[in-house]
Amino acid sequence: KFNILIAGGGSTYTPGIVAMLADHNDQFPIGEIKLYDDLAERQEPIGEACKIMLQEKNPDIKFSYTTDPKEAFTNIDFCMAHIRVGLYAMREQDEKIPLKYGVVGQETCGPGGLAYGLRSIPGVIELVDYMEKYSPDAWMLNYSNPAAIVAEATRRLRPNSKIINICDMPIAIETIFAEILKLDSRKDMNVRYYGLNHFGWWTDITDKQGNDLMPKLKEFVSENGYALETEDFQHKHPSWQATFKKAKDLYALDPETMPNTYLKYYFYPDYEVEHSDPNFTRANEVMESREKEVFETARKIVEAGTAVGTEFHAGAHATFIVDLASAIAFNTMERMLLIVPNNGAIANFPKDAMVEVPCLVGKNGPEPLSMGEIPTFQKGLMEQQVAVEKLVVEAYIEGSYQKLWQALTLSKTVPSAKVAKDILDELIVANKDFWPEL
Ligand code: G6P
Repeated sequence: KFNILIAGGGSTYTPGIVAMLADHNDQFPIGEIKLYDDLAERQEPIGEACKIMLQEKNPDIKFSYTTDPKEAFTNIDFCMAHIRVGLYAMREQDEKIPLKYGVVGQETCGPGGLAYGLRSIPGVIELVDYMEKYSPDAWMLNYSNPAAIVAEATRRLRPNSKIINICDMPIAIETIFAEILKLDSRKDMNVRYYGLNHFGWWTDITDKQGNDLMPKLKEFVSENGYALETEDFQHKHPSWQATFKKAKDLYALDPETMPNTYLKYYFYPDYEVEHSDPNFTRANEVMESREKEVFETARKIVEAGTAVGTEFHAGAHATFIVDLASAIAFNTMERMLLIVPNNGAIANFPKDAMVEVPCLVGKNGPEPLSMGEIPTFQKGLMEQQVAVEKLVVEAYIEGSYQKLWQALTLSKTVPSAKVAKDILDELIVANKDFWPEL
């Protein structure tokens, strides 16, 4: 049986992950689940509700929550990390400051993503260090955002640590593909894919017999993008609906591949800005919906003393995490998309870039598969974006204003060095409690 720590215990995603772990106990047997957060007041209501839910789902799983790193990180096999340094209040700043200057305001793309990256780096590194100190054999499965920058930072700063960086977006999109193709599960497909996190393309999709599924997918996507008539929780949300529809215009740019939805911020930034409300962004939506709903559900569970009749939503995140943990624990060599050092997986791309590619996963971690050479269009885009990500990490390490300014200037979402500087100077003030001195 495995002992799990969820870092970011006060996250609204935590109850869904706990529920999912309890429900998948056959596939992945668990001895203990612990939650860890540095914000006791956020973690406590979630922790109390999870305790009741777990007691009802599976009383054999030991459960606790703590703000003490030693207690949290001692005697664990896996740390599942989803922290948000600065919470939604800072996400709001990440989105609103760039929008003031007519630039994309998004939590992982463009200037907001860079700002969030600089906040996340020390937070994730701290978790890695706790894990190595108290449970040196454990693995960290990290999906804290912005995953691309966090991954580059861990590659630079903790190159030998047992951290695997993963993202749920490819999983969510493959789930849509499976539905379009009328397959039971995304696991009925084999995919080839390359890119950076939130910046990639599927090139081949076949069924388990090797039959090409791309023609059918292309037919649908060229008309509808990834928009489906579905009851799926995330898909139904208006902002996600818009994103999935927009995939049609992303696909139009290269009809040989299927795009990651986040490319919309790079290909159509003008459209995104026009369709954003600078006074009410996604952070505001989430604060008014998910944040309130999850804490309200937690409160109800604690008040009623039972979780029966209340359902915490487990996103695509959750199942993927169980698959990844079981692949490592049981050496299944399951094929998954992960963010790993390139090392030749994309033949004509730098070795030291953190790329998102299919990997076989076993007890020694991920083994990336070779994706061959990529076309000029994607290569050009990726070289620009990976340089942005590297500059942010260098800016963090060196405390360099200059490099951060260069990073913002280089981002495809930013029109000029002047605008980059204006945004940067505001971001520095907003992030004074989080960023290193520049
Ligand atoms: C997807 C992405 C995550 C991102 C999330 C934001 O799941 O892969 O990286 O954090 O969307 O969703 P939200 O509902 O908070 O806007």
